[in-house]
Amino acid sequence: MEESLYPQLINQTINDPFKPWKDVFDHLVCGVVLIDASTRRISYANRVALTMTQWEEGEILGARCHDFICPAEADHCPFLDHARSIDLDERMILGKNGKNIPILKRVTRIEIEGRPYVLESFTDIQAQKERESELETLYGTDTLTGLPNRASLEKIIEDLKMDDPMHPQGHSLIMADLDLFKNVNDRFGHQAGDEVLREFGFVLKESMRKVDIVFRWGGEEFLIFARNTDSATASQIAERLRKLVEKTKFPIVGHITASFGIAQSRPGETFEKWFHRTDFCLSKAKHDGRNRIVDWEGFVSDSWHQGKIPWIKLLDSPDKELNHQHKELLHRINELLQTLIPLQEDPQRIARIEAFIAFYRDHTQYEERRFKEISYPYHEFHETEHQRIKHDLALMKTKLDSGLADYFSVVDYIVREIFVYHMSMEDTKFFPYLETKES
Ligand SMILES: [Fe+2]
Ligand SMILES: [Fe+2]
Repeated sequence: MEESLYPQLINQTINDPFKPWKDVFDHLVCGVVLIDASTRRISYANRVALTMTQWEEGEILGARCHDFICPAEADHCPFLDHARSIDLDERMILGKNGKNIPILKRVTRIEIEGRPYVLESFTDIQAQKERESELETLYGTDTLTGLPNRASLEKIIEDLKMDDPMHPQGHSLIMADLDLFKNVNDRFGHQAGDEVLREFGFVLKESMRKVDIVFRWGGEEFLIFARNTDSATASQIAERLRKLVEKTKFPIVGHITASFGIAQSRPGETFEKWFHRTDFCLSKAKHDGRNRIVDWEGFVSDSWHQGKIPWIKLLDSPDKELNHQHKELLHRINELLQTLIPLQEDPQRIARIEAFIAFYRDHTQYEERRFKEISYPYHEFHETEHQRIKHDLALMKTKLDSGLADYFSVVDYIVREIFVYHMSMEDTKFFPYLETKES
């Protein structure tokens, strides 16, 4: 490492052009380094950068930036030599112990007192990289696309702190699915279909941020785990992907589109329910005409505003009576939603809730009878869920009568727990066991 040549402006409080910046940067939780764009020498490193690398300030100020940051790009700096943007890209920074530390960095230009500087901000992703390589060793990857498989995600989710106070926005899941993929296989053959899947996986992986992980979920479905990302940002990401897929010319088959479902994690929610909300949104995107995005927040707010949840294919069962009852349940749920618009007192509200609870009770009895007839192996869990929901409904009704619960929260519970979780998640599990029952 050559000796520091840069004037020690940084230590001179008088004439220190960085003083106002240092006051800000020294309070950040990420590393920050300022590089003089003309000399390419380090002018400033904040506390986090020094702690992360263990260098003393005097050892790196004035040194050439590539001696420390991204040493592999010393002769061809993508940012300064090729004017390429670096935004949440993975790079390396050299620690004092001689080891390269993997970082996720963002680079931008700023001007301080008329002089151009390069501002590098970065976080240490060493722990994440170690975990990823551990996962690769443990679970391997999907052979067709080279992407991590479903088992890897399950392991990540197990380790994930869903209620991390540092990231109150939670994480988002994006489920991506190629539209009418069956037609590709039928028309062009499975080999062409595999080529499309490989390309689709590649497009997703290459265009996602480095912090995100793309999984091959199975068939033509891919799941993206967007870390520390709220639903609004995940929707923007998915929209970018949707447009990109639409523009992409796939080998042999040409253009093809994709649909996306998005849901943000909720505190205390199980992964299964979170995933199911995502999958539900994808089904709705398909139902609404494909080549589109449906996010959970948007779905909920549209349902409230329009008072209408559509029937989706996922809910079709081979039992005609069951189908009829589920359609009736959805019809009644939509009626309840309708009573929320406009927000004025409806004398029938309580009666509607009562009627709904009675109908639901009868419906669960029908399902439980069918479980016996078809010897459904998981009937015990399903029946416990029925009991739980009926108990919750009775409790909410009592609270509603005594003014301890509001009408809105009861309808919200019915939509979430009965329609989204129970009906479309638990009920659909026993559909394959059903034989068609003639009406
Ligand atoms: Fe049901
Ligand atoms: Fe059920």
